[in-house]
Amino acid sequence: MENAENYFRKDWVCIRGVPMISAFSENWERIDGFQALPEDIIVATYPKAGTTWMSEIVDMILASGDVHKCQRDFIHNKVPMLEFSAPNYVEAGTKKLAATPSPRVIKTHLPVQLLPKSFWEKNCKVIYVARNAKDVAVSYYHFDLMNQLHPEPGTWAQYLEKYMAGEVGYGSWYDHVKGWWEKRQEHRILYQFYEDMKEDPAREIQTVMHFLEKDLGEEALEKIVRHTSFQAMKENPMTNYNSRATSFFVNKISPFMRKGIVGGLEEPLHGGPKRSFRFATMPGRWREVG
Ligand code: PPS
Repeated sequence: MENAENYFRKDWVCIRGVPMISAFSENWERIDGFQALPEDIIVATYPKAGTTWMSEIVDMILASGDVHKCQRDFIHNKVPMLEFSAPNYVEAGTKKLAATPSPRVIKTHLPVQLLPKSFWEKNCKVIYVARNAKDVAVSYYHFDLMNQLHPEPGTWAQYLEKYMAGEVGYGSWYDHVKGWWEKRQEHRILYQFYEDMKEDPAREIQTVMHFLEKDLGEEALEKIVRHTSFQAMKENPMTNYNSRATSFFVNKISPFMRKGIVGGLEEPLHGGPKRSFRFATMPGRWREVG
């Protein structure tokens, strides 16, 4: 058994030009050769875009709104992360998935070109969540500060330069949202927005239900809205990631469930010049945030 510290604060390792978490980069054949099942449901996002939120929503929908059933395990076990790996320390995502009953809900942050081709061949449903680049930058900065599997982010000013150059885990935010946006032309991808989910969670959850061909009715919908609110998920030990605090996540630096809002940019963080910049929530859909 290796020590968790062996994986701490290592620099990114490039996989076909995409900066990847060092611990995840080993034995990449396990990703390229991953065998999908036709019923697999993929929750794909750039990091910090609302993966955990959407994962819990999908799990709740599959459980027909049964809160008790959704409390059966931690979110990272119910919805394994495809590329997660820390050899000899934590079971790899691919291994966990092999033991997960179908329909499997699979989390990934992979850019579209790195998704195993088996998912396309099996015509699996994909739910992509995009979040505006500013809020992602702030959330990602706090995450890099607390997640020891990532390199130290430096100051906010340094980090922002790296983020805008795509020199952070999973590469450029822009390439990611654009790549998945374009893939919609040829594959069944439900492209959701974090900001829309904040604006009207019931409406957006209903859209997900239709996509999953689940008609659950008002009562179940209300339960899902309540159970997946930021406050409920922050208080829920199955979704708040406090259990990972001792190994990879240092929650006293920043909790995983941090603010969960739109436009939460507190600039400058930890010093650095105040600068204005404009981001899109997706290509062609400009929106000012913060
Ligand atoms: S990760 O590590 O990439 O998988 O993180 P991810 O789950 O994609 O994103 C974490 C951010 O999503 C916020 N979050 C929520 N917002 C609103 N409602 C709900 N239910 C919810 N659950 C998680 C979480 O707080 C992180 O955003 P920030 O801005 O850091 O608070």
